[in-house]
Amino acid sequence: MRKLTRSNEHFKKALSKLPLGVASNFRYWGDEQTIYVDHGKGGRMWDIDGNEYIDYRLGYGPIILGYADERVDAAAREGMNVGGVFALATEREYEVAARISKMVPAAELVRFSNSGTEAVMAAMRVARAFTGKDGHVFMEGGYHGMSNVVMWAREFDDWRPGQPEPPIEPYGEGIPAVTRQLFHLVPMNDANALEDLLRKKQNEISSFVMEPIMGNCCAIAADAQYMKDVREICDRYDVLLIIDEVKTGFRVAKGGVQELYGVKADLCTFAKAIANGYPLSVVAGREDIMRRIGDGVAHGGTFTAHGVALAAAAKTLEILDETSALADIEAYGLKLQDGLSKILAERDIAHSYTGAPALMGLFFAEQPPADYREWVHSDYEFYDTLAPALHDEGVLVEPDSREPWFLCESHNVECLAETLDKFERAVDITLPKLKAIRTGTSQ
Ligand SMILES: Cc1ncc(COP(=O)(O)O)c(C=O)c1O
Repeated sequence: MRKLTRSNEHFKKALSKLPLGVASNFRYWGDEQTIYVDHGKGGRMWDIDGNEYIDYRLGYGPIILGYADERVDAAAREGMNVGGVFALATEREYEVAARISKMVPAAELVRFSNSGTEAVMAAMRVARAFTGKDGHVFMEGGYHGMSNVVMWAREFDDWRPGQPEPPIEPYGEGIPAVTRQLFHLVPMNDANALEDLLRKKQNEISSFVMEPIMGNCCAIAADAQYMKDVREICDRYDVLLIIDEVKTGFRVAKGGVQELYGVKADLCTFAKAIANGYPLSVVAGREDIMRRIGDGVAHGGTFTAHGVALAAAAKTLEILDETSALADIEAYGLKLQDGLSKILAERDIAHSYTGAPALMGLFFAEQPPADYREWVHSDYEFYDTLAPALHDEGVLVEPDSREPWFLCESHNVECLAETLDKFERAVDITLPKLKAIRTGTSQ
């Protein structure tokens, strides 16, 4: 049985200096479940108790090649030799920008930041400047980081179809109420809802900020027609389409989710996989829009385009662009899905997959949800019970069933065989456990 003795001890110490004992609220999994990492290598991670995990969280997506990838780390070390930051530019910024433009046609011009949050903030600011309008539309179930304007949502847990929609509320305390008026929400895969809103609020709305595969909501995916409609509606109502590729970018295809759907954003944002774990993010887009930066729109930052992260990105993108890494990840993902399906089908457990193999949602129903409202009312108890059993077996997936599984190039045949073996055991532990929970006979 997996033990977290040292992690639990460290948690108590960490709590004396860090709120929740961690550096990000999402890393707190409970007083006795919070894991402290020792190190990662390839597709695996070891905690400070020495437990080994095949990791399908991969830091919520940055790790696309594998932990401690020697090619990228050597490049990052070379980036260190440059000397850090200078409050001046380096030649490598052009090199990385040119590579991004080559891989993602919508990225005609590029600016760097450090986190996904910052890149999305920049995209929204440019959109407001370009259109002269301050509001934004978002999609239910979407996530766009920690800036105030994006931190609003509808809570559907107690809602049933036919009832009035729940109110839009802040994610937590400290979000200025005044930002609420900039925030509008539509469900995914409902082009009429978007059009109805824009017909009424066209003069207030600068942009539709969305993820065609919702990286924080079980990888629920837009259908192809919806994306075509969205592109057309945004053009018709003079609203910019901002595709947030912080999770999908340089992961689901070389050209990101835009390549998968054959759609071109006006502005798009990247982070995570771009530098295999080093902190770099990007806002990119149409030249006429992006030229507003420096021509009225402020953008910058002390650590922007840091030499280490930039060198890591140059190498990561070179590998993703010039090798079969992403195709190999996809092939692994398809084999993984086949194997999981076989185990589940043998036990008559209805399931489906959402998203793309490299960013996949495992969903326990025959049909995947079309939007967040459907997910909320699905039976996700099976996943919630399965995830801790997988952790005990040494397969690290997100305990929250809204987070998809992430795959990387280092997930190899051994990982696959082990994952399937462990998954089968975890399912067989989960089934009686869930039955006991549902019949009220659990301890
Ligand atoms: C789609 C999307 N946008 C933005 C962000 C924010 O990125 P960061 O956590 O780097 O600030 C995230 C983070 O998960 C994300 O998934």
